[in-house]
Amino acid sequence: MRSSRLDRLPPYLFAEMERKQAALRAAGKDLIDLGIGDPDQPPAPEFRRAVTAHLDDPGVHQYSSSLGIAEFRAAAAGWIGRSSGVTLDPARQIVLGVGSKELIGHLPLAFTEPGDVVLFPEPGYPPYRSGTIFALCEPYVMPLRADRGFLPDLGAIPADVARRAKMIFVNYPNNPTGAVATRAFYEQLVDFALRYKLLVVSDAAYIDLYYEERPVSFLEVPGALDVGIEVYSMTKTFSMAGWRVAWAAGRPDAVETIRAFKANVDSGQFMVLQKAAAEALKNGESAVRDIRAMYRRRRDLVVAGLRKLGWKVPSPTASIYLWFSTPDGSASMAFADRALEKAGVVLTPGVGFGAQGEGFLRISLTTPEERLAEAVGRLAKL
Ligand code: MLT
Repeated sequence: MRSSRLDRLPPYLFAEMERKQAALRAAGKDLIDLGIGDPDQPPAPEFRRAVTAHLDDPGVHQYSSSLGIAEFRAAAAGWIGRSSGVTLDPARQIVLGVGSKELIGHLPLAFTEPGDVVLFPEPGYPPYRSGTIFALCEPYVMPLRADRGFLPDLGAIPADVARRAKMIFVNYPNNPTGAVATRAFYEQLVDFALRYKLLVVSDAAYIDLYYEERPVSFLEVPGALDVGIEVYSMTKTFSMAGWRVAWAAGRPDAVETIRAFKANVDSGQFMVLQKAAAEALKNGESAVRDIRAMYRRRRDLVVAGLRKLGWKVPSPTASIYLWFSTPDGSASMAFADRALEKAGVVLTPGVGFGAQGEGFLRISLTTPEERLAEAVGRLAKL
């Protein structure tokens, strides 16, 4: 028994991949997983210790409010202020997410009516589409193309579609392409949102994993706080995937809508984790520098290794992903299946990020260097 909404979704990419891998592992095959972006290292020791240190604090085992505890929201505002120079009021402009996937999947339910259009990029993170479909909205795909720096062409969206749209998702640094947005693009986006009165949701899950300078945040652009929110995740920046701690920040009435919605579907996150996450946000600069340096080493190793094989692999300036065309021009699923079965290496087929991702593969750098080197060696034999 299942709803027609669920039937309208493609199978969830990583769940499907896990099924294939489980069968091979059960048969004794050693797989190197370059698939999902699930950080392999634990959070820095001081933040792990913060979890145990707060276990005996009074009241921490009770429900949290869906908005998140004040200490966490203040720490998030501090992080945003120091990294983007944007001053936010933690009481009105920040709301906790139980991971950013939860926020993204729920936002269309909080902001749209059935039949409204939701604009989202493709290739893109699958929950933009799932959230749209769960809310009975009409998906409108903004293709991301290499020749446009993987930025959507807002001018190509027909005016009648834009008029029916309530929300637009953008995501930079981008998953899966690794592209970063320009300030000019965000300025154009603010104008577009004002013209069509829609909510901008900027998914910035990878903004602190950069290899040159910190990419511009949507919140920095004049007018952004009137039209949108930025969704931020602790998962990649602090290696806290399982903690499920994130936030949405920006436009106050949108933050209030999210709070009102979430009061009906969750009761926040375990307060101990919120407290430990707040400590990471207050004192985490050097831990994040180390994480960035680790991904830079991994990126350089894999890019150099694959280029030696003759694969054309661009080196991203941000994110934890490599995004490149299949080396032999074959379909992405066929290539990924071959890599899995013949080399025991899990690659993500680009088509899993939507039809626009066909012909591409994604590698996640969330695997230690020696295993990455081994993966390159195995791929050489394909
Ligand atoms: C990915 O691999 O695209 C992400 O790790 C998935 C996620 O963040 O949920």
